[in-house]
Amino acid sequence: MKALITAGGRGTRLRPITHTENKHLIPIANKPMIHYAIEAVISAGICEIGVVVNPETEKEIKTALGDGRRWGAHISYILQEKPAGLAHAVQSAQDFIKKDPFVFYLGDNVIVGGIQQFVKAFHDSRSNGHFVLSRVKDPQRFGVAELKDGRIIGIKEKPRKPKTPFAVTGIYIYDEHIFEAIRVIKPSRRGELEISDANQYLIEHGFTVTYSEVTGWWKDTGQPEDLLEANRFVLDQIVESPSGPTVLGMVDAKSDLRGKVIIEKGAKIIHSQIRGPAIIGKGTIIDHSYIGPYTAVSEDCVIRNSELEYSIILERCRITDIDVRIEKSLLGREVVLYQGKIRPRTQKFITGDQSQIELS
Ligand code: DAU
Repeated sequence: MKALITAGGRGTRLRPITHTENKHLIPIANKPMIHYAIEAVISAGICEIGVVVNPETEKEIKTALGDGRRWGAHISYILQEKPAGLAHAVQSAQDFIKKDPFVFYLGDNVIVGGIQQFVKAFHDSRSNGHFVLSRVKDPQRFGVAELKDGRIIGIKEKPRKPKTPFAVTGIYIYDEHIFEAIRVIKPSRRGELEISDANQYLIEHGFTVTYSEVTGWWKDTGQPEDLLEANRFVLDQIVESPSGPTVLGMVDAKSDLRGKVIIEKGAKIIHSQIRGPAIIGKGTIIDHSYIGPYTAVSEDCVIRNSELEYSIILERCRITDIDVRIEKSLLGREVVLYQGKIRPRTQKFITGDQSQIELS
């Protein structure tokens, strides 16, 4: 069995972060998002992995993932010349997949609880296509499955009036018949070869199509709030050791750490309060500050005289002397936030395109 993981697309909904950072490399709990996909397929026993890249993402993704050796796997790269849809991404990988069954895993999906059970269900039911469904509040954002008597009878991509709350998650398992479906379908109104149309073809042409429901937790990280939620769930999985937080850096005697907290190598916690779940990256300094639950601070940041919670802070940010608590925030690399000392106390901004700032 093989796996095909996407790392192409445009990432427009995650701007401005994706102006400079590939969506799939944005860290969730200080680990690039796509690592979760790689680790999930490896845990399901799959070591032959293809990663779909496009001309813009290719170099960055290859540098970040390498040949897969560090996971004991083998990664091949499949170039999709343009983001012409998910079914097109699968078609681009036909030479890599050959006739093997495969897991098609969208690299911007994060699932807690693994995918082994779905792979088993695919094999046990001798399916041609096995889908993983999740009940959601906003099905119109997804491919939506219609069910009858325990069977999938239809799949529609982002319907305006969804018939059920069952989103088709970005974990699909196929045999070679999916290539026949993709050869036949036509581009949608938005000009993409939709994976939902290929799935619908399988259903309509008598192939065995089965499904599982997500039992753990799943998120498509399409929007910034989704990243914060994914970060929350992954941080919640930190296992609290009876001896207390995991400290690989330095914590001084005036600091107080509670709950599921990881302090990575070379990080320094000085006269600060940290309430987990939280992770503080390598070389980061937290000084006279409060870090609240569901916060991930990446490497080499400085947080001084400030309060932060339910946020993701990327590498080399500096946050100093901010007198309101920062929350629900996603800061890109090298962002500087500081309190001006001279009067009049005005707000000043130097922000990139499509930044979002809420003042209180
Ligand atoms: O997350 C689940 C949803 O994913 C499904 O419910 C939908 O049926 C499915 O179409 C897909 O919808 P999205 O709108 O979320 O897909 P998105 O364009 O965000 O792309 C998902 C992943 O695939 C992401 O890793 C980018 C990559 N991609 C996307 C396109 C269009 C490619 O690698 N190539 C592409 O051509």
